[in-house]
Amino acid sequence: FKQENKMSKINAYGDEENIVMTLDDWNSRWKKKHTAFHLPKVNENLVKHENVLLDKQKMSVFVPLCGKTIDMKYIADKGHKVVGLECSEIAIHDFFNEHNIKFNKTKHPTSDFNIFQSEDSSVTIYQGNLFLFNSDVSGKLDATWDRGAFVAINPSQRGAYFGVMSEVMKVGAKYLLNTFRYDPTKYCGPPFSIEDQEIAQLSENRFTITALGEFEAINDRQRSWGLDSFTEKHILYLLVEK
Ligand SMILES: C[S@@+](CC[C@H](N)C(=O)[O-])C[C@H]1O[C@@H](n2cnc3c(N)ncnc32)[C@H](O)[C@@H]1O
Repeated sequence: FKQENKMSKINAYGDEENIVMTLDDWNSRWKKKHTAFHLPKVNENLVKHENVLLDKQKMSVFVPLCGKTIDMKYIADKGHKVVGLECSEIAIHDFFNEHNIKFNKTKHPTSDFNIFQSEDSSVTIYQGNLFLFNSDVSGKLDATWDRGAFVAINPSQRGAYFGVMSEVMKVGAKYLLNTFRYDPTKYCGPPFSIEDQEIAQLSENRFTITALGEFEAINDRQRSWGLDSFTEKHILYLLVEK
């Protein structure tokens, strides 16, 4: 990907921009509390499209690279089983503690993942590297809510990311993906910009795509990155058998 490893700079939040992010970089952001991506309320796009994503009956809903998003509590409170995935133990502890949810930590018997599970079993968060995750660890899942996840991974890992997503979800699973599009010559991420064409290429033969809409979503944080436009998109993928 052309934009990786361009000149990095320290942004207004004290974080380096234009770098290839490692797990250590993310863990260090959590340690330093440089987590401006975290929203203080449920994501409005999830609320807007929940009828498309969530069925009436109980589903297992994957929230990859979940951080401590409140969206997990929102989905669990609707009666679904949430399966989060996150590398930072700080983020996972924060999630349970900030919602006063009692939880247990165990080690997955056949993998390197730690399992954090609420006492009522409605939320399970696997701690580890997404690129090592698969359905042997979690079982096959019914749906995915992807905000701040696909857009956060390094563009060179997008193919591998989609590989994990398609392996971990059941055939026919629903996958609601939030992406961004902006001028990558002004800012290189994260979050990384993506064009429709690349999503179509990545999804080929694996997902059918329905675009649910897009809107201008620029705010002061993105203006501080030097952008004057930041388009947020919601795309629904339905995983289909190859
Ligand atoms: C931009 S944040 C978004 C968090 C959450 N989705 C939200 O909307 O608030 C990306 C998260 O992914 C985690 N992360 C990044 N790369 C990862 C990887 N390869 N495996 C597991 N977690 C990862 C980071 O620690 C961080 O919490």
